[in-house]
Amino acid sequence: MSTLADNIATRQEKLPPQTNAYRVSDGTEWAGVFIDALADRLLVSVRDAAVPRSLRAQLEATGRPVYLKRLDKDVKEAPVHLCGPQLPLRFPILENGVSYMMDMSAGYSQGIFLDQRDNRARVRGLCHPGMRLLNTFSYTGAFSVCAALAGTTTTTLDLAQPCLTWCRENMELNGIDSSPHFFCKGDTLHWLDRFARQGRTFDAIVLDPPTFSRDEKGRIWRVEKDYGTLVAKAMACLSPGGWLLCTTNCRKLSHAQFRHLVATGAPDAHLSSSPMPFDFNGEDYLKTIWVNA
Ligand SMILES: C[S@@+](CC[C@H](N)C(=O)[O-])C[C@H]1O[C@@H](n2cnc3c(N)ncnc32)[C@H](O)[C@@H]1O
Repeated sequence: MSTLADNIATRQEKLPPQTNAYRVSDGTEWAGVFIDALADRLLVSVRDAAVPRSLRAQLEATGRPVYLKRLDKDVKEAPVHLCGPQLPLRFPILENGVSYMMDMSAGYSQGIFLDQRDNRARVRGLCHPGMRLLNTFSYTGAFSVCAALAGTTTTTLDLAQPCLTWCRENMELNGIDSSPHFFCKGDTLHWLDRFARQGRTFDAIVLDPPTFSRDEKGRIWRVEKDYGTLVAKAMACLSPGGWLLCTTNCRKLSHAQFRHLVATGAPDAHLSSSPMPFDFNGEDYLKTIWVNA
């Protein structure tokens, strides 16, 4: 069996049921090359590397549609078709029995961050009817979908209206009526201040920001400088006994530095870390801390 086919087979054995999206290769077999399975498509992402000829042959041998994305370009571009059949660019994937819509033509990101799979499962496990969850920097709202499936009322918050629309679509894809859920367009820090002023609280808040962002007024926000403030603002909107999911893929921060930042925002809370999913066996870049108030 080829290395690629071998990786696919060994990962499929260990994946949770009803899951067809996962990391096939995490820069470990081919330097600078990361391969994801997205249902029956493969997405190859390269950083300062080209697709080795031997890998190209293995990709072709799968008979699957394969797309290529460059991670090292200044201009972040959508993936291009590399080989295999041409199938619709929009299609659903399945993770722990939950469907999410992907779009290979949507730009640099395709609809879901696979490294958050275990965190999404845990959010679903911790949520229950009667709870209220706030999902900030929501992107396509995958955390909201998991919470809503557990019966929790969600508030989904993102700067970009298309992300909120995509979240509604992901909810409907899973048979969730999105109308009782809340959707807020705008800057997370401003909304957190507004919620605090209004005395509006949540039982759980997800904080998974990009490493660098601008608010509506163009002010710059960076994880390594500002995450502590973000946590403090979220704590001001958390109901007693509530929890935060604090996570970042910021490579500039060590796990200890991230923990320190979270602790500055939530000095009296209990913090516990959790690891990356097993299929992300390359760089340990994703940091996750659960905060219990
Ligand atoms: C890294 S993704 C977040 C991933 C997401 N938590 C998930 O689980 O898929 C970044 C998202 O944050 C949004 N965003 C960036 N800056 C923001 C801000 N200041 N306030 C609210 N959303 C913001 C972007 O529009 C984008 O959808």
